[in-house]
Amino acid sequence: MKARVQKIFHALTPKAEALVLSNATDPHLDASFFYVFDVPGGLFEGSFAIALPDGTTHVLSTPLEEESARQAAKRDPAIEVHVPQRREEWESTVRDLLPKSGPVGLHFRELTHEGFLRLEKIAPGTAWVDASAAIRRARMIKDSIEIERLERAGGIGSSVAREIPGMLKTGITELELAAEIEYRMMKHGASGRSFSTIAAFGSHGAEPHFAPEDRKLEPGASIVCDFGAYYRRYASDITRSFHFGTEDAELKRVHETVEKAQSAALAVVRAGVPAKQVHLAAQQVIDDSPWKGRFTHGLGHSIGLAVHDGFSMNHLIDEPLEIGMTITVEPGIYLPGRGGVRIEDDILVTEKGYRFLTTAPRGYLEVPA
Ligand code: GLY
Ligand code: MN
Ligand code: MN
Repeated sequence: MKARVQKIFHALTPKAEALVLSNATDPHLDASFFYVFDVPGGLFEGSFAIALPDGTTHVLSTPLEEESARQAAKRDPAIEVHVPQRREEWESTVRDLLPKSGPVGLHFRELTHEGFLRLEKIAPGTAWVDASAAIRRARMIKDSIEIERLERAGGIGSSVAREIPGMLKTGITELELAAEIEYRMMKHGASGRSFSTIAAFGSHGAEPHFAPEDRKLEPGASIVCDFGAYYRRYASDITRSFHFGTEDAELKRVHETVEKAQSAALAVVRAGVPAKQVHLAAQQVIDDSPWKGRFTHGLGHSIGLAVHDGFSMNHLIDEPLEIGMTITVEPGIYLPGRGGVRIEDDILVTEKGYRFLTTAPRGYLEVPA
């Protein structure tokens, strides 16, 4: 992925002669390793990517994923794969590939301390510099391959969101619903879930990051489902809120207010607009409603190789939106002891404004009990 590596080096200050991205053990894998090395499967625990300013990237793989690594290298002429057999060989390969002088960039934000000590031992005296900001910057603006995968991931999330009303039955538990959602995502082509699925019934919906329990669905409950798929390592993140059984007039109005808040935010999405302005457009709608102050989190975040991909949208962020950013727009209203409503979509910032990556219907949906 020559262009991606060059993008990182372009953003890197102070300059470096090489960049090392290293994985520890799952879940401490650095998604940026997979940003520079586009391989569809495998954990690549303990593996290294040593990228050079001209875009060449040396991947040190263990034998566990050798075949996948070699296949990926065949598709990308900038990749050279090494499969050192013993620890000494591994260390000498790294030493040979690193520049003899000059600083080397590391991903301080993701590298474990143990991983750092390992590098220090292999190449003592190297001047290490933090490449975190440059990596974040490069990953923020998606290329066409990334956009296509994010669109596929969003499509999978949207297909499952459309199927949720058919899954809602009296007595189903939050855990069972979450399991069904994850199963359906994989049936639609996901390689897995992009984060732990949230299925929250009734008062549980008032906690934005609720973890499903064994609460059973009863007629009259509101439901919040927040979930996402991985498609070729790229994430989606979608939330839909439903009502089960007889209409609840208050929650219906809450839902309509959240929809309005989302529309107000989307109406200001455009390259150059500060992130906080988009957040504040949604917050204004909620603060002008009877539920003032009940929107308790930021409006969204960038999404990519990770579901929370490095950029946040809240009332403090001055950073402007840019063409090629992919972000979530997810206002909510939370009523402790009663329930919650959140509507979340993923969008791509375009020249004209934005394009949806998730497409499931957003309106209030009452599912008969
Ligand atoms: N799924 C977590 C979030 O929406 O940010
Ligand atoms: Mn979400
Ligand atoms: Mn989100």
